[in-house]
Amino acid sequence: MPSENTILFVKNAKKYFGGVMAVDDVSVTVNEGSVTGLIGPNGAGKTTLFNLITGLIPPTSGEFFLFEKKYSPVNIHNVVENGVARTFQNIRLFNKMSVLENVLVGRHVRTNRWSLGILASILRNKKFSKAEAEEREFCLKILKKVGLSNKKFKVSESLPYGDQRRLEIARALATEPLLLALDEPAAGMNPTEKNDLKNLIAQIANDGISILMIEHDVKLITSLCDSVYVMDRGKIISHGAPEKIKNDSAVIDAYLGKNN
Ligand SMILES: Nc1ncnc2c1ncn2[C@@H]1O[C@H](COP(=O)(O)OP(=O)(O)OP(=O)(O)O)[C@@H](O)[C@H]1O
Ligand SMILES: [Mg+2]
Repeated sequence: MPSENTILFVKNAKKYFGGVMAVDDVSVTVNEGSVTGLIGPNGAGKTTLFNLITGLIPPTSGEFFLFEKKYSPVNIHNVVENGVARTFQNIRLFNKMSVLENVLVGRHVRTNRWSLGILASILRNKKFSKAEAEEREFCLKILKKVGLSNKKFKVSESLPYGDQRRLEIARALATEPLLLALDEPAAGMNPTEKNDLKNLIAQIANDGISILMIEHDVKLITSLCDSVYVMDRGKIISHGAPEKIKNDSAVIDAYLGKNN
């Protein structure tokens, strides 16, 4: 149940795809300043739940609250304006654009730069140039934070996998989110990249951004998360501190196996 420091509250969310109950009556709470994990076997419904929260697909039913205020996750702009940003399980960058340009796109979504007018951007008047320079500065700071400063002019598709994942995080951060939702941020990373990612996520959380992350790497989840939700076949089967989850027989049976 939500309390006054609840940032996200999902109440009885359902998403059915025909006969498939991908998300089946799920309630989730993310508290301000916390790192919350979402784990579970393949096909459990984790990404579908993210897609509901971030407005990518409409729910069959359910309610969504940010800071106790109900929001309508029907379109992505409404979600961004309400302070939610995300990354994708299958990286979605603008492949032919540079690293910096990808982050600037995230910034544009937030600042609604287009509202300054097409004409202003064509004439590049003073007001526009100043604002543009400020946005660029802002994005360069974010690139520094994620460790991609020295690759800012590289075409994004030329980056190694781990860098592309961090670039997605940078683009999400450019929207100045209150809640950052990460869908398998460590997928495909080697141990060094994973360790860098762990430090980056901890730093983002330390900056006051709440995090909700889907991840299969139990070590990463255990070291970063305050609390963890476990999904299986559309339902939450367990919730609590990482240590509790690791010893929950239902979680061991459904997901972890005996060796974790
Ligand atoms: N657009 C869709 N149309 C039909 N079925 C879908 C759609 N998206 C997801 N599903 C189904 O919903 C279920 C949950 O899928 P989802 O991708 O949410 O699982 P997941 O927990 O993220 O799995 P993974 O760990 O493999 O990423 C699966 O049975 C999947 O086939
Ligand atoms: Mg998924």
